[in-house]
Amino acid sequence: MTATREDATHVGSTVEPGRGMHLTLRVWRQPNPSVKGKMVTYELDDISPDMSFLEMLDVLNEHIIMEGGDPVSFDHDCREGICGMCGVMINGMAHGPEQTTTCQLHMRSFKDGDTIDIEPWRATAFPVIKDLAVDRRAFDRIIQAGGYISAPTGTAPEAHSVPVPKKDADAAFDAATCIGCGACVAACPNASSMLFTAAKVSHLGLLPQGQPERNDRVVNMVAQQDREGFGGCTNIGECSAACPKGISMETISRLNHDLLGALRAGARPKS
Ligand code: SF4
Ligand code: FES
Repeated sequence: MTATREDATHVGSTVEPGRGMHLTLRVWRQPNPSVKGKMVTYELDDISPDMSFLEMLDVLNEHIIMEGGDPVSFDHDCREGICGMCGVMINGMAHGPEQTTTCQLHMRSFKDGDTIDIEPWRATAFPVIKDLAVDRRAFDRIIQAGGYISAPTGTAPEAHSVPVPKKDADAAFDAATCIGCGACVAACPNASSMLFTAAKVSHLGLLPQGQPERNDRVVNMVAQQDREGFGGCTNIGECSAACPKGISMETISRLNHDLLGALRAGARPKS
């Protein structure tokens, strides 16, 4: 397998011959984090426009396996746009040319004869595990630093006993739709995680249940994202444009507002 089209691996047929697309895939292959990776070219025939992008990668892997090769590693789980596991750079765009998850991207977004570059998320805080799979546990540690509330155990209180203004409930719900996919980081020239962290800070900070830890939450989550090696936010907005859930830049403004208030009130991150 080489990176030249002439020598590229030519892998099989998936729909009636002549009915599907011919694609040239240039895929990042890297056996493990300590080995230098490279782009490897594969030719794929008769790909149905109705396939999802991940199904197209499944077809590629079936053919690689049949030829005795090592299949391309990539993350996926629900394949319904809800778990946040999937995500690759497609022609330099996080999740590809549509504002959706990689699993919800369909091959009808490409044309017969296209060349498609497929790479892992690129960020220091998301090191490559293998091929297209990256380690996103940095996000888990940001959540652990403050993405929770304290609630008494026992019988759940009557729902209407804690009124929440509709405006706040809607904004909290919008923020809570973040699925932690990491596209915001991958799309950002600074590899900043501000949109993700802002979504997690907002969805709790907007609700009455999230008030007791509000100040500590924001200072600790921001401190953790800095410790993880994510870059700073310079309000470029690529994160929001790539976000499959449409988390807005306003969410980042809300985080900055909360952070300033918390620091003024004397909150300091745990070391
Ligand atoms: S803010 Fe959007 S792009 Fe970033 S992790 Fe959440 S869902 Fe993914
Ligand atoms: S596999 Fe779950 S969001 Fe794509």
